[in-house]
Amino acid sequence: MRVLAVASEAYPLVKTGGLADVAGALPAALAEHGVAVTTLLPGYPAVRDALTGAVACALPDGHQLLAGRAGGLDLLVLDAPALFDRPGSPYLAPGGYDWPDNAQRFAALGRSAAIAARGAGTIARFDLVHAHDWQAALAPAYLAFAEGPRIPSVMTIHNMAFQGQFPPAVFPALGLPQEAFTIEGVEYYGMVGYLKAGLHYADRITTVSPTYAREIATPEGGMGLDGLIRARAGRVLGVVNGIDVTVWNPAADRTLRQRYGAGTLEARAANRAAIEQAFGLGAEAGPIFAVVSRLTWQKGMDLLAEALPALMAEGGRLALLGTGDAALEGAFLAAAQRYPGRVGVRIGFDEGLSHRIFGGADAIVVPSRFEPCGLTQLYGLRYGCVPVVSRVGGLADTVIDANEAAVEAGVATGVQFSPVTVAALEAALARAVALFRDPEAWQSIQRAGMRTDLSWSRRAAAYAALFREVAG
Ligand code: ADP
Ligand code: GLC
Repeated sequence: MRVLAVASEAYPLVKTGGLADVAGALPAALAEHGVAVTTLLPGYPAVRDALTGAVACALPDGHQLLAGRAGGLDLLVLDAPALFDRPGSPYLAPGGYDWPDNAQRFAALGRSAAIAARGAGTIARFDLVHAHDWQAALAPAYLAFAEGPRIPSVMTIHNMAFQGQFPPAVFPALGLPQEAFTIEGVEYYGMVGYLKAGLHYADRITTVSPTYAREIATPEGGMGLDGLIRARAGRVLGVVNGIDVTVWNPAADRTLRQRYGAGTLEARAANRAAIEQAFGLGAEAGPIFAVVSRLTWQKGMDLLAEALPALMAEGGRLALLGTGDAALEGAFLAAAQRYPGRVGVRIGFDEGLSHRIFGGADAIVVPSRFEPCGLTQLYGLRYGCVPVVSRVGGLADTVIDANEAAVEAGVATGVQFSPVTVAALEAALARAVALFRDPEAWQSIQRAGMRTDLSWSRRAAAYAALFREVAG
């Protein structure tokens, strides 16, 4: 079976968040299940530069695709320099606001997907299109109005908070028939809604955890699209993300000072010392809590900033790597000043340092207000860096709380809290500190996490089965 995946980022070529990790790892996992994935990416400079042996193919809409391989992926690259040959972030101009032509950029991506899927020039026809997030979400709409045999599509929601809504003035240039601009189409409260279009036209909808699949069907979690999700109930499936267990493997991770496994946890001490150095933390007995995250409201980072005095009082330390809202960056930088040697902050995006954090810190804190899946808690589990998480979305589905019974049974893998408040977070951090002071309990939690099957294999099977069902 041939699937055309469409995404705006894919590790290791271009990454701003978890979508890249998923789009980068799923193709190899699907190959094990007999699904051959080609990934369509925008022609960002980093993608075009990495492409080898590329063959150009002109599309009838005037665009050009480059077919080749890079980063271990079979790629089609939308070679549209006017749209994608820009430095910096895929979505944001240097000032930090959205590129003003994002509607055109990602309409071109969706349209090229629909054209390529039907076969063009040297590109053979695909059996199904798998669209990731709003940037790819017009692909199902274009497919719905395409001529010739119908090609089915699956729309995967990685985050309902990002919907790609644009003023109605962009509609005429999309090249969709006028009838598409209705509530039974791409129209969303008078705007053009890209994600809305994908959710309407795709044959199936998936999201990245079963709990998030339920949450987006509610007014609280649906961000205005819950009605559509409810209307399509029975067509919506939650599949928890896996991780690339070769990229994320503490026994083979070259970024670490010391490699280790579940049987050699004591070797983490050298990595822990490296984190103390990297973040300017004093050597103390208490646990090092870490954050690797976008610094945003979604991620509950304001709650963590507020919980810091309590964490300090408990004897915890914090090593934080992140970028995001200026106010949150400022709050954590101020905390580092206020608690020298106890709070260390790195503002930036640093893949290597993120690996070293999971390999050396004691716990990873993910206090999200909502979290479709979340990957950092999975990297924490894999590296014996115990997750402390809110009980929402994929965090609820992937961490087993260290309540007394679970610790006793040896199945606990982390600490969960609910509701998502400062008080509950403080209590969870205190609970983690107390567990850390009991080395036997703590190591049992670390080992249970490291034993958990986080690989894509099983999860990719769910996608493969869905694709086969949809493609008939
Ligand atoms: P989201 O996609 O919502 O940001 P996820 O947990 O799914 O959250 O994925 C985030 C990905 O980005 C993970 O691979 C995480 O390690 C990485 N990441 C986030 N912030 C940083 C950072 N400042 N430096 C390096 N990697 C980061
Ligand atoms: C989104 C979500 C995150 C998820 C990631 C990959 O960025 O915010 O929870 O893990 O996509 O699916």
